[in-house]
Amino acid sequence: MSHHIVEVKQLRHVYPDGTVALRDVSFRIHHGQSVAIIGANGAGKSTLLLHLNGYLTATSGIIRIGDHQLSKETLAEIRRTVGMVFQDPDDQLFMPTVYDDVAFGPLNQGLDTAVIEQRVVDALARVDALELRNKPPYHLSGGEKKRVAIATVLSMLPEILVLDEPTSGLDPRARRQLMALLQDFHHTRIITSHDLDMVLELCERTIILHEGTVMADGPTLEIFSNEALLATCHLEKPFSMQGCPVCSPEGTRRRPAQQRPLVPPHGDHPHDHHHHDHDHHHDP
Ligand SMILES: Nc1ncnc2c1ncn2[C@@H]1O[C@H](COP(=O)(O)OP(=O)(O)O)[C@@H](O)[C@H]1O
Ligand SMILES: [Mg+2]
Repeated sequence: MSHHIVEVKQLRHVYPDGTVALRDVSFRIHHGQSVAIIGANGAGKSTLLLHLNGYLTATSGIIRIGDHQLSKETLAEIRRTVGMVFQDPDDQLFMPTVYDDVAFGPLNQGLDTAVIEQRVVDALARVDALELRNKPPYHLSGGEKKRVAIATVLSMLPEILVLDEPTSGLDPRARRQLMALLQDFHHTRIITSHDLDMVLELCERTIILHEGTVMADGPTLEIFSNEALLATCHLEKPFSMQGCPVCSPEGTRRRPAQQRPLVPPHGDHPHDHHHHDHDHHHDP
């Protein structure tokens, strides 16, 4: 399907102070793909995402979403297609109540009241936050805010969901809840994260950004198995792919003590790595 391909071509972004955040970034993401964009702090991940629906304007290069090249003329249409969830939900929630925030997008589309109401209820139900509808967003917990921020985007029925560090700052339960919710979104997903265990579960493809350029782009498992590449880009294997202190004490011994994951001894299936839920993730 040529529909809703995300294409980034030779994207360069220089901030007004002269910082070159993106040097020359190119990739194509097909409809329905789930893609992680990872990289050390300052690699350019947020800058890249903010181009995908025109919050930032490219210094040079091209962004194409489906049949539209991003420009002033196509901006409104592209923003309907690409739902952007910012890293900080406080940047997304600004209305007096959760309901108003989730209704904001559909309201601006000029939809009928009944349609808006339905969109809000559906979006809130999807993130399991219906009971929060009358609350002021500033009373919500971190995990609730994140879910409501996602609902503000889902209420626009986006074809492409873009999320900047969705699990940062969440406790293990809120993180799990959020991952289940993202698992349920079957359109295209583009996610930046330091939480490589989440990436391993949710994204079949990973792009590594390093100092504003694409250092690698391929199947997530392949990329995470390349230790030299990860080291070059200042990244570490996800915890679930590191030697587990219970099943492979050899691997643990080789790691310097301060890097040993703080994994509580786990019970049932010590050899079933994929079902370990270590819930480790680095905050940015
Ligand atoms: N508004 C800004 N003005 C100047 N430089 C910025 C601005 N925002 C980000 N940068 C710089 O651009 C680079 C990429 O930042 P960012 O996209 O936030 O990286 P990441 O999200 O991967 O941590 C960094 O060097 C950062 O300091
Ligand atoms: Mg960032």
